[in-house]
Amino acid sequence: MTTASVAREINLTDLARDPYPIYRHLRDTAPVAWVPAADRYLVTRYDDVMAVERDQQVFSSVEQDSLMIRAIGPLALLRQDGEAHQRLRKAAETPVKPRAVKTEWLPRFRQNTEALISAFVDHGEADLVADFAAPLAATNLGTLLGLPDATAADILQWSQAIIDACGNYADAPAVWARNDRAVQAVDAAITEVLPYVREHPDSSVISAMLQAGLNPDEIRTNVKIFIGGGVNEPRDVLAVAACALLSHPDQLTDVLGGTTPWKAVFEEAVRWVSPIGMYPRQVTEDVELGGVALHAGDRLGVVIASANRDERIFDRPDEFDTRREVKPHLAFGGGPHFCLGTWVARASIGEVGLPALFDRLPGLTLTDADAVRLHGWVFRGPLSVPVTWRA
Ligand code: HEM
Repeated sequence: MTTASVAREINLTDLARDPYPIYRHLRDTAPVAWVPAADRYLVTRYDDVMAVERDQQVFSSVEQDSLMIRAIGPLALLRQDGEAHQRLRKAAETPVKPRAVKTEWLPRFRQNTEALISAFVDHGEADLVADFAAPLAATNLGTLLGLPDATAADILQWSQAIIDACGNYADAPAVWARNDRAVQAVDAAITEVLPYVREHPDSSVISAMLQAGLNPDEIRTNVKIFIGGGVNEPRDVLAVAACALLSHPDQLTDVLGGTTPWKAVFEEAVRWVSPIGMYPRQVTEDVELGGVALHAGDRLGVVIASANRDERIFDRPDEFDTRREVKPHLAFGGGPHFCLGTWVARASIGEVGLPALFDRLPGLTLTDADAVRLHGWVFRGPLSVPVTWRA
């Protein structure tokens, strides 16, 4: 057992621009390293990430001085362990399980998708992020949560404000102020629907939480987890997958010809560029991880984006390859907090959004492949994806 290496050379600007060469270096030389710029130990190998995920008692989701708790309150299910977490999680589970997704939501996701594409199909050009992926993710989320009066623009704004506050390590007052406004607006929207849903239960997440006996504060806080966690990731996986297919015409031909299923495209896209790259854990007792001694109170960054490119597990991990041998990736996490929106994302993007895009926009082409820039390491995705097609 050794003390961890200190990776002073790593800075947040480089990580946000392109974290993958940095992760490869860390996996090879210091798989559990103290990274001062991130103010935590980064865990970058697949097996070590799995070891963290398997032991919630030692690697806790309850982080001291958590920005997420400051942003949305102490009742957030993502910052709970054990029974307290399970109770909140179970309350939201039924509407996002595969059966409900198939029967309740898939038809609604199709309607939302068709309506959005119809609005710009005649234009012949669009930005896939701003014009399609972002409003689609937000509209689908509003449908699922049961917030009929919230527009896609509202949900996008709330989501970004909450995410920025959860990552507000610089303690910027403007970020807290924007978060406070978003929190007030979400609370008002929920407070407005609760009396009606109490009288008229439906299939939505808010209704499920109410029926499970969560109190209004618990509902308000955890709807914000859905809003913070349910927009950027489906948006980014759609944009990454579309870009990757358009830059790999041979793979696109196989997909359109039915040789490669859309499911494989979705799973490879989330492995290749994981929309959530890193999430936090805190060590509760002295322990060894990857040969390194950690102590109670140490803060970890669980870098699933790196685990998903670990060459010890995946062949040619930096290549986008929809035909690769299927192995379990960690894009949705791997433990008790495994993403509750997994089946929603698979259906709304993998089964509906992506196929509809290629079906309805003939001759879809990247306007300038070299101009597509990906950004971020905690969350990562393309900032914009300009495309053209035959209108
Ligand atoms: C491709 C899309 C998505 C990816 C890659 C993704 C990824 C993740 C990951 C990695 C976690 C675990 C975080 C942690 O352990 O700290 C998580 C948790 C969560 N996700 Fe997702 N997510 C996606 C879409 C969604 C959607 C669409 C929703 C909402 C409908 C959602 C709701 C949640 C919730 C509520 C949790 C917390 C679960 C818990 O604490 O038990 N996610 N997600």
